[in-house]
Amino acid sequence: MKISVVGTGYVGLVSGACFAETGITVTCVDVNQSKIAALNDGKIPIWEPGLDDVVRRNVEKDRLRFTTSLSDSLTDADAVFIAVGTPSGEDGSADLSYVLQVASEVGKHLDHYLVVVTKSTVPVGTSQRVKQAVRKELDARGVQVEFDVASNPEFLKEGNAIEDFLKPDRIIIGTESKRAQELMERLYKPFLLNGHPIIFMDIASSELTKYAANAMLATKISFMNDIANLCELAGADATLVRKGIGSDPRIGAKFIYPGAGYGGSCFPKDVKAIIKTADEYGHSLEILKSVERVNERQKEVIFKKIRAHFGGDLKGRRIAVWGLAFKPNTDDMREAPSLTVIRRLLEHGAAVAAYDPVAIQEAKKYIGSGVAYHSSAYEVLKGAEALALLTEWSEFRVFDYDAAKQLMKTPAVFDGRNIYEPAEMKEHGFHYYGIGRK
Ligand SMILES: NC(=O)c1ccc[n+]([C@@H]2O[C@H](COP(=O)([O-])OP(=O)(O)OC[C@H]3O[C@@H](n4cnc5c(N)ncnc54)[C@H](O)[C@@H]3O)[C@@H](O)[C@H]2O)c1
Repeated sequence: MKISVVGTGYVGLVSGACFAETGITVTCVDVNQSKIAALNDGKIPIWEPGLDDVVRRNVEKDRLRFTTSLSDSLTDADAVFIAVGTPSGEDGSADLSYVLQVASEVGKHLDHYLVVVTKSTVPVGTSQRVKQAVRKELDARGVQVEFDVASNPEFLKEGNAIEDFLKPDRIIIGTESKRAQELMERLYKPFLLNGHPIIFMDIASSELTKYAANAMLATKISFMNDIANLCELAGADATLVRKGIGSDPRIGAKFIYPGAGYGGSCFPKDVKAIIKTADEYGHSLEILKSVERVNERQKEVIFKKIRAHFGGDLKGRRIAVWGLAFKPNTDDMREAPSLTVIRRLLEHGAAVAAYDPVAIQEAKKYIGSGVAYHSSAYEVLKGAEALALLTEWSEFRVFDYDAAKQLMKTPAVFDGRNIYEPAEMKEHGFHYYGIGRK
């Protein structure tokens, strides 16, 4: 079998490489020439654990290729997967211009039956627009070529993307023809050997499933953050409340960790987009509107604690930051809570020194040179009056109290991920601030 995957970002590159791993021939396409040049040079443009091995192995076997030519990639292809970005438009809706561009491009070159699969996260109705865009180009060419559309949203998590793709919790596929369903089943069969389910449904339900999943996860986070803020006021400990409620299987222990707010390339934009879709249907998603508001407030919490600690005056104070990426094991900085905290600190005259194991290059694109970046965690503590931990990389888990105390001007720790023990911190002479803790 042969497929084309358009877009070589976190989703496209991982999907392409993992499909190749099953023996399928995959051509990955991107409009970004430097990305394709880098990939053809053996360099992986994103930081994702294990991805380089899978890519290298399949390139060597000649099952994985990279090109900027979509038309070449369609030769003999059984399916084309659209995995390009769908960023937030100005009004919060998903910007579908890249997806529809690819669809038109497919229509310009299609000369045999294939399935046009939308893997990007897209609002209900998009696959129908993809179909229209392909058909419009076929009509313009005056040719009749049979094709089907399918929706196949992706659920991988950055930082664990290879594992998630190879061993998915579930695969969701929306189709409207038996032929497309059978082809998708053949493509995904190798990933289902361990009993992971494939769920077929209509296209609209498939498109909505992806948004509903991300919206539910974002809701869990904002709910817990809201409760954590109440815990602080009421003298309760959110980490205990979390354990207390998480042991109920109806609630579940995952995704109820209070923190500095959610970020990343998906939750913020997907929550916005589903709100917008519902508004367009005349239905106000009240819960999700609150989820968004709570998250915006939560991203400010660490900054507010730091400001309060220093009596409102941050001018000239040196603040160290550990962790920039929106979560561990990725270099993705999109909508990272660290951006809010750092911008606020800089606005208030603080000097920020930051360290992240992998995201510094990406962070520079977002924050610029106003921050002093360092290549070691303890280096940023030199002369710092406070440390803000914003991403829970595992290398931060064991805190070297003596080293930190020697390096810091004043020992204050703002733990945006609750990874340290307040009592231990206090014992070692640190002022400790967590999220939702006494
Ligand atoms: N990142 C995630 O964790 C994740 C998880 C699940 C779903 N998704 C969804 O998958 C989609 C892709 O996300 P991503 O994070 O991989 O995006 P990304 O920004 O990392 O990559 C998108 C790629 O598409 C390329 N592109 C844009 N227009 C193109 C065109 N016309 N032809 C060829 N290539 C083109 C870009 O150059 C870029 O390399 C989005 O809809 C996202 O919401 C992302």
